[in-house]
Amino acid sequence: MTQNSLPDYRILPPDVAERMAHIKQRECVLKIDHVGKVFTQKRNQTVALEDINFDIHRREFVCVVGPSGCGKSTLIRILAGLEDTTSGRILVDGKPVNGPGPDRGMVFQKYTLFPWMDVCRNVMFGIEMGGTSKVEARREAMQWLQIVGLEQFASSFPHQLSGGMQQRVAIVRALAARPRVLLMDESFSALDAQTRLKMQNYLMEIWRKIDITIVFITHDLDEAIYLADRILVLKPRPGRVEEVIEVPLSRPRRATQMTSDEFLATKAHLEALIRSFGDNTEEMDEGEEDFNIPLLTLVTDKAE
Ligand SMILES: Nc1ncnc2c1ncn2[C@@H]1O[C@H](COP(=O)(O)OP(=O)(O)O)[C@@H](O)[C@H]1O
Ligand SMILES: [Mg+2]
Repeated sequence: MTQNSLPDYRILPPDVAERMAHIKQRECVLKIDHVGKVFTQKRNQTVALEDINFDIHRREFVCVVGPSGCGKSTLIRILAGLEDTTSGRILVDGKPVNGPGPDRGMVFQKYTLFPWMDVCRNVMFGIEMGGTSKVEARREAMQWLQIVGLEQFASSFPHQLSGGMQQRVAIVRALAARPRVLLMDESFSALDAQTRLKMQNYLMEIWRKIDITIVFITHDLDEAIYLADRILVLKPRPGRVEEVIEVPLSRPRRATQMTSDEFLATKAHLEALIRSFGDNTEEMDEGEEDFNIPLLTLVTDKAE
């Protein structure tokens, strides 16, 4: 099929248009308000982000895409409170972010469970941070492990689990602390294609069941289209919002939708857009080294 025979990716099927309208009526959980970030190293200045404005609504699933170096990781680290802004601010439920907090959970690309704790203790960690007793935390942790089908691995250690299983634990560890927002940076990039698709389906299933808003960074366009309600496309040097795309796919999502005209039209547009950004964009971000990742991936409030 030629690109010309594909539908306009901006035309939403009626059920999707209705869903988008509903989402926009919900309160804004995460507000990115004129955010700019400049890194200064010796005499070099890098404008990583410039005037980013974006409102993310309750229970929305937002993906952020863009070529390597466009500021995706910087943005999510700012959202997590692991990095300060140079200008502008982040608001969660209307309250300015001044560092990490229990209202935001984070899952990185690398497997970052505590290697010395068994799976159950890893999940309990986030629950106990909230002041819950050990007995109750263990009960809750087991419920979370059931949701991702890992209850029989409760007393296994992270190294005994496959990559996909470790990421499932990392996701429920973050969710168990009951954050408002789940932040994910290339969380499935290290997994093989089949495991990755399974993880995407797991994540959407969990997201449907609980009250959580998700911001998911990826360089994989298929992944972004498959997961997101809206896709934020960042353009590099300096990182700016190029376009916000409303994904024209019904929910619940099925892998078979990846060959639909709507999917292919959205992908063709995204590919052309990213190509138009010019040099160095052929090879997309493979999830290169992150800067200063703390071992504690669960974002916790140092002030409390
Ligand atoms: N801690 C840092 N110090 C200096 N420069 C940085 C730092 N973090 C990111 N950068 C620079 O900011 C830009 C955006 O980086 P990053 O957010 O990692 O992009 P992406 O995740 O989209 O690949 C890049 O030019 C990168 O080199
Ligand atoms: Mg990155």
